Amino acid sequence: MRQFTEHSSVGKRISRRFVAGLTLDDAIDAVAVVNHQGLTATLDPLGENVLTRSEAEAATATACTILDAIHRNQVESTLSVKLTQLGLDLGRDLARDQLRRITARAGQYNTFIRVDMEGSDYTETTVAMVEELFAAGANVGTVLQAYLHRTEADVERLLAKGIRLRLVKGAYREPASIAFQDKAEVDANYVRLMRRLLESGVYNAIATHDERIIQATVEHAQAKGIGADKFEFQMLYGIRRDLQERLRNEGWRVRVYIPFGPEWYPYFMRRLAERPANLLFLLKNLVK
Ligand code: FDA
Repeated sequence: MRQFTEHSSVGKRISRRFVAGLTLDDAIDAVAVVNHQGLTATLDPLGENVLTRSEAEAATATACTILDAIHRNQVESTLSVKLTQLGLDLGRDLARDQLRRITARAGQYNTFIRVDMEGSDYTETTVAMVEELFAAGANVGTVLQAYLHRTEADVERLLAKGIRLRLVKGAYREPASIAFQDKAEVDANYVRLMRRLLESGVYNAIATHDERIIQATVEHAQAKGIGADKFEFQMLYGIRRDLQERLRNEGWRVRVYIPFGPEWYPYFMRRLAERPANLLFLLKNLVK
């Protein structure tokens, strides 16, 4: 399925619903459009769970090329990467070396690097590696998932060091032994953690399309006198553009997560799984 959809023209057309395009030029164009609308961006070169050292090194080279392009085109974007894209399945040292190279290049331009959070097998390694590189001076932060029981402790652990966090609900299937299964519980934990992030004094990101949680965030910021320059909202490319614009019009900062590249299948599948209505979109396009 993956081979077919990634390479067929129908697949490529459908992927445009959530993915900015296949090339770096497409991605930079998408960032420019978003910037023009008064929103910032973070670019995500798609790819994960690479199987060889050369793929990991190629992902690093791509990441550095993206950082160069962001700088050259004078667009406002950070970069998001995944450790399994940098070879984590082949060894921690390999992934750490790649991430170090990327943060070094980002340092030349004063650009922030966000390490996305993947499935729970990688949580501890990701948290620890970000701590290590941050301690060594890298401009790096990570993502924590409200569905995991451990996240409350991770929030304290990383905020104590001043590491910038993106709070998300979580996009992978995790067992009940380590993760809340009930949406209401995940949402309640998200709101609790959101309040903690806002009050921390660290510049964090509230990444969700959930209107009720966004409203709770706005209310909490206003009640506590936390200014719009102290945190940002983040949303995915192609999802709830109306909400992105509304928040911007109300004076809040919004960053759009812009994925691009040929390896869009796993990302696309996670977006479909989140919302059954997206399957209708897929089917309509297949019929067309
Ligand atoms: P929820 O799923 O409750 O959706 C709320 C509303 O948002 C829906 O009713 C619908 O209107 C809209 N919506 C949500 N998903 C949609 C979709 N796929 N298509 C159409 N509409 C949709 N996860 C992770 O595990 N690691 C990570 O590093 C990241 N990184 C990340 C960055 C950014 C900027 C965002 C916004 C999200 C992530 N995520 C992530 C994904 C996150 O964990 C979660 O799966 C999605 O954001 C969907 O959850 P919501 O918070 O939007 O709420």
